[in-house]
Amino acid sequence: MPTLIERRDPLTQAQGVERGYAQTARRWPAQPLARRPHTAAELSGPPPVARLLPVQEGDLAGHGARRAIGQLIRLRVRVVDEDGAPLPGTVLEAWHCNAAGKYIHPNDSHDAPVDPNFYGAARMLAGDDGVAELRTIKPGAYPVPDTHGWWRPPHIHFSVWGRVWLSRLVTQMFFPGEPLNEADAILNAIRDPGARGRCIASLAPSATSEMLFDYQVVVRGRAGTPGLP
Ligand SMILES: [Fe+2]
Repeated sequence: MPTLIERRDPLTQAQGVERGYAQTARRWPAQPLARRPHTAAELSGPPPVARLLPVQEGDLAGHGARRAIGQLIRLRVRVVDEDGAPLPGTVLEAWHCNAAGKYIHPNDSHDAPVDPNFYGAARMLAGDDGVAELRTIKPGAYPVPDTHGWWRPPHIHFSVWGRVWLSRLVTQMFFPGEPLNEADAILNAIRDPGARGRCIASLAPSATSEMLFDYQVVVRGRAGTPGLP
């Protein structure tokens, strides 16, 4: 019998469409979700995601002449279940803008420079301890088009795959102590302050030239990490 897992507390999740942010209307369902259990075929295949998607070394910062511009950081991302147990072998994807706040995307109209040494996306595999490491540069803030002054705080988008294709959590990680966190419509669409806090990485001691941050993703359960578009 499958384990019965408590549903997420709605207060710990984003509240869907945000006023003044037209794009969220296209990213959230217009109707309430209908709950449907996965079928045996969905749960038994295809084979583990890690065998179908190539994973890379988690390094977006580069080295030497190919080094991206920006503050070097290292993230330790720990993926756990509802009991805090690590989930080894989880495939994670991360993407973010460069240090000037520019994405490598044709729809990014922000007037900020592209960094030729910054690619901006990585796919990683969590080890036996459920931890995947990403070395990168700290992303910049950027203005959200047509909002008259809303700037997104520095953040990193994450996609976390479950055992099968149907199971995927897409969320965003924020940095501690950022003034723009207080007014960000996406982060504050999560009404519960504790749940918001779980979306913010914590600074860890680092003896190297790279700032070190810890971030934990809880893939399910009542205190599960919110899905953020
Ligand atoms: Fe973003």
